[in-house]
Amino acid sequence: MKNLFTFYTLLLFGFFLNAQNLKSPDNNLNLNFSIDKKGRAFYSLNFHDKPVILNSGLGFILKDNVEWMKIDTLDMMNNFKVLNVTFDSVDEYWNPVWGEESEIRNNYNEMFVELEQKESERKVNIRFRLFDDSLGFRYEFPLQEKLGSFIIIDEKTEFAMSGDHTAIWIPGDYDTQEYNYTTSKLSEIEQKSIEFREENVSMYRISNWAVQTALMMKSQNGLYINIHEAALIEYSAMHLEFNPVNMTFESHLTPDAYGNMAYMNAPHNTPWRTVIVSDDARDILASRITYNLNEPSKIEDTSWIKPTKYMGVWWEMITGQSTWWYTNDLSSVRINETNYDELEPNDSHAANNKKVMRYIDFASEHGFDALLVEGWNIGWEDWFNKKKDYVFDFLTPYPDFDIEKLNNYAKEKGISLMMHHETSGAIRNYERHMDEAYSLMNKYGYKSVKSGYVGRIIPAGERHYGQYMVDHYIYAIDKAADYKIMVNAHEAVRPTGVGRTYPNHIGNESARGAEFRGSKLNHTTILPFTRLIGGPMDYTPGIFEMDPRKNRPDFTPNLNETLAPGSVTTTLANQLGLYIVIYSPLQMAADLPKNYMRFPDAFQFIKDVALDWDKSVYLEAEPGEYLTIARKEKGTDKWFVGNSNGYNKRNAEVNFSFLDKNKKYTATIYRDSKEADYAKNPQSYKIENITVTSKSKIKIPTVPAGGFAISIFPN
Ligand code: NOJ
Ligand code: CA
Repeated sequence: MKNLFTFYTLLLFGFFLNAQNLKSPDNNLNLNFSIDKKGRAFYSLNFHDKPVILNSGLGFILKDNVEWMKIDTLDMMNNFKVLNVTFDSVDEYWNPVWGEESEIRNNYNEMFVELEQKESERKVNIRFRLFDDSLGFRYEFPLQEKLGSFIIIDEKTEFAMSGDHTAIWIPGDYDTQEYNYTTSKLSEIEQKSIEFREENVSMYRISNWAVQTALMMKSQNGLYINIHEAALIEYSAMHLEFNPVNMTFESHLTPDAYGNMAYMNAPHNTPWRTVIVSDDARDILASRITYNLNEPSKIEDTSWIKPTKYMGVWWEMITGQSTWWYTNDLSSVRINETNYDELEPNDSHAANNKKVMRYIDFASEHGFDALLVEGWNIGWEDWFNKKKDYVFDFLTPYPDFDIEKLNNYAKEKGISLMMHHETSGAIRNYERHMDEAYSLMNKYGYKSVKSGYVGRIIPAGERHYGQYMVDHYIYAIDKAADYKIMVNAHEAVRPTGVGRTYPNHIGNESARGAEFRGSKLNHTTILPFTRLIGGPMDYTPGIFEMDPRKNRPDFTPNLNETLAPGSVTTTLANQLGLYIVIYSPLQMAADLPKNYMRFPDAFQFIKDVALDWDKSVYLEAEPGEYLTIARKEKGTDKWFVGNSNGYNKRNAEVNFSFLDKNKKYTATIYRDSKEADYAKNPQSYKIENITVTSKSKIKIPTVPAGGFAISIFPN
């Protein structure tokens, strides 16, 4: 009898081990874990009774690194048994160094499943964390006898969709995200990928079914589903490849030159795979899972990390009025050999003493913190897509840029210069100069650096989103922290919340920013649901002159052409709204001083707007359509509201119930005028002052690619 009892208990226990259930703290989300007959691990996720992720397989194909020349692959998908399952719950608060809110709740239920492969005895554990708005899970390879150093050939994580959702996506690419978004049914991705052709200087499209994360979707039954990853460290970035037959996405990692996806040394974890879900789009924006799944700050003293509002000697190069390079007389540069003093300067090199001082004056007069100067260092004559290893030294200024004098001048005016390190993708070159380059910054008082990775990566065959580069970006940020330097990386891998661990990582481009121009009208109604899920973006808003031709002194109006190539496709009021819509502790006023002087009343908003927040309230949101966000400045009673509108003209509704019940405020509204038109009349806006309380509700009209900004100051 006793034996029989034990037998049944074991059977039951075994059964329960092989099928497990986890609920979110509020019971809204339900996760199932199971092992199928072949011994493959599966999971599924429900939001109430609606499926979010149908039964989806987990696992890997590996190669043993010890005998890596062997072609044999190791199956890490099937034949698993559950060794143990443990549960845990956490409910805590933490304070980010900067952020959309000053206190973040980390509240989840956890299930930790320990798996072992039956014959091989290889082990892998899966940690699931279920928050009220999202699921995160990762694989953990413990230190073990049978698996030490190994190579991931393929990660086989599936995300099975419950229907032909509407997806907002950019094509899977190992080297760039600077794409416009496409909105389509999942089943249309291939066709739309074929039709969709945008070129970039470094691109490697994966396949016509591959898309990038963060991927935003909406199901026919009204669920908003977002798939991304958190804590991408010592691993390669994940894309998603859709299989239209079983309506399932599978992870597609970025390979290296050998085609290997990741190199692992146990104990080693993968990044977290995340699924955010809600029936209200605003909850996707409010989710903090990406930060919650990253490690706390590694930097103890963070007092030197400061949100920064900056201008730049930059937009004039982007719009082709001046140059990064000093001379037009060189077809090749040899760093340390080319003698610039002997060369004829062109008269379009922007980073010259006189001009930089004028910009410093302007930035200082209008209360900015910093001024970016690009094109200050030698090498730009020959910098681009030449596969040139020693392309810059990050140390030697051009003859017309007096680094000491300019930094002293800036300091006197309360401005710090922002360093620029364009690597041109030559990674070894950057790493070997890094200590000296950061030391130079310390010597002259630079507090932050904008780095960049334009073009193909050297060493050849490495990709912007592969493990080699992921390691490099972290190395650069970590080392910058030793020098108390803040980093804003362009063309780097899209962020995955690592700014929590390295809060000196205050910015990233890693998407199509304002500099690209000609973006789709609804571009910035999408970014907060995609690129920004991982962290702040250096979008560089604040463009007041949309038509680049008009910046030229020789401009003569051509009335037939209303939208010139290279135009910014929004209204001016929309540009103001972006300071709130696109969250970043690093914000630029990207346009030229002379354009701000034409619209000083609108410029006032950029001067007033805060950079760091106690609280953010997502008032209205529909990805691709519109977005209205309110934020309270950290430590003050000031609020700011921003809106970005998509293709259709619309009345936004602002309910001021977020305001303090006992206070009256003056709201200054910067909005599209009735006549505003992103192509024909983008600079037509209206500024109105009204008194508001927590009971106020107003409607604000917006035009296509329009928007508004509101500053709300207590009376
Ligand atoms: C691309 C960056 O995104 C842009 O901002 C920068 O000016 C150029 N590279 C040159 O480094
Ligand atoms: Ca770029």
